[in-house]
Amino acid sequence: MQISAVSKGINEWSGSVLIAGVLEGAIENQINLFKDIIKDTYLKQKFINAKFEGKRSQKVSVELVEGRIKKIVFVGLGKAENLLINDLRKAASTGARQVSGCESKLGIYFPWDAFDPSSAAFAVGEAIKLTSFKDLRFKSKPKDSAEIKEVELIGLDSKAAELAISEINPICEGVKLARELVSAPPNHLTPYQLAKEAENLATDYDLDLKILNKKECEEKNMGAYLAVAKGSDLEPKFIHLKYSPKSSKNKVVLIGKGLTFDSGGYNLKVGASQIEKMKYDMGGSASVLGAARAIAELKPNNTEVHFIVAACENMINGSALHPGDIVKASNGKTIEVNNTDAEGRLTLADALVYACKLEPSAIVDLATLTGACVIALGDEIAGLWTDNDQLSEQLTRAASKAGEGIWRMPMQDSYKSGIKSSIADLQNTGPRPGGSITAALFLKEFVSSSIPWAHIDIAGTCWTEKDRDINPKGATGYGVRTLVNWIKELSFKAI
Ligand code: BES
Ligand code: MN
Ligand code: ZN
Repeated sequence: MQISAVSKGINEWSGSVLIAGVLEGAIENQINLFKDIIKDTYLKQKFINAKFEGKRSQKVSVELVEGRIKKIVFVGLGKAENLLINDLRKAASTGARQVSGCESKLGIYFPWDAFDPSSAAFAVGEAIKLTSFKDLRFKSKPKDSAEIKEVELIGLDSKAAELAISEINPICEGVKLARELVSAPPNHLTPYQLAKEAENLATDYDLDLKILNKKECEEKNMGAYLAVAKGSDLEPKFIHLKYSPKSSKNKVVLIGKGLTFDSGGYNLKVGASQIEKMKYDMGGSASVLGAARAIAELKPNNTEVHFIVAACENMINGSALHPGDIVKASNGKTIEVNNTDAEGRLTLADALVYACKLEPSAIVDLATLTGACVIALGDEIAGLWTDNDQLSEQLTRAASKAGEGIWRMPMQDSYKSGIKSSIADLQNTGPRPGGSITAALFLKEFVSSSIPWAHIDIAGTCWTEKDRDINPKGATGYGVRTLVNWIKELSFKAI
């Protein structure tokens, strides 16, 4: 898909489909603007029939039999005074859903003047690209695969938007990779295969790669992570990728939970716990590898970035973890596993200890960690836990710029009593109420207190059950754009 800004008027543009943004209360203007293309009385009647007033998410399509444009999709933007970049992003998605891939040239005509050209160009470009993404890898006879070939942002300042436009493809390819990794089923995307994917990134983009096998993890005393992997016939793979710019003031570690399947273990996922969905339990690792893909191509300066995934499966066999087992993590802490389904935090514990040894200036982990987070925040908002206000602000800003929902949650230290064990240092689960908070507090036990650290629970946001804004039903790739925005911001300063 080729995206460009063109300084044409609407009357000079030609192409297959035009998406026109209409502000609420500006219907007459719009009718007037298009009068050389569509007869004004016809368009007026069309809007009346469809009760189209330019309200957010309203839309009307007009097919044209002759002329330079085949179809125009009018999309409501709401009131001018409330207009935000996110409305452009959503309107572009609404429009893109009315376009089929075989329609080769798409034009977007929005009220650009209200925005900084680079942010507007980026938001709209990524919206078109991400909305029209289709995963056809597992169809034996893929149909309807033709991607929109060309997108023109009509009337947008092309000089000012040039750099932003050049970043759309690298970042969206990162999101696409994350979505593909998440939607790949667990018989295809195994820990071995996830490691292969990291290896491909390392070769394609010249990143440093280290994969620790089971024996090497044993040597590092990663007893918590390895305990989870024991119940599977597949070997765990501990993945460590590194991006290093020429010079760097910051060093950050991004960790992603990488359970290629979570059956729950002996605390088997039964009833309504949706075991069949648990291929997405590597959503955190997908975001981190997607971010690696984008960062490796964009090459931001000033920040060395490490990408870490302790990949494995949570399964059941004769040597699987028993409920009640006591295991020892690589920082020496002992954990009573009172629930084998709280496995993500066990894998992350050893990944966090490993990350701290790199002496980074910050650590961020992303994990599909708790069902409780889904109950609290739903599928549009991820939970953010950190004791560090600056990191919280930076990540919240990065997410908001990406249009990704995030909400800071309390790190309630007094709830730590919930994960106290009578026999070991800790137990891996606390009471049901506040379950996402005790999960975050558990992770905190494995991070040096001097290192700024944030935990993002993406159990709700990594997947959507219906088409929603820029996300087609399925894997969302949540987190990639937030992480990339954050790393880009760090390229201008120290943490
Ligand atoms: N991977 C799940 C969390 C999850 C649940 C993600 C639903 C997406 C949707 C995690 O490993 C898990 O099973 N957590 C348990 C923790 C509990 C045993 C304390 C949960 O949330 O039920
Ligand atoms: Mn689980
Ligand atoms: Zn899990």
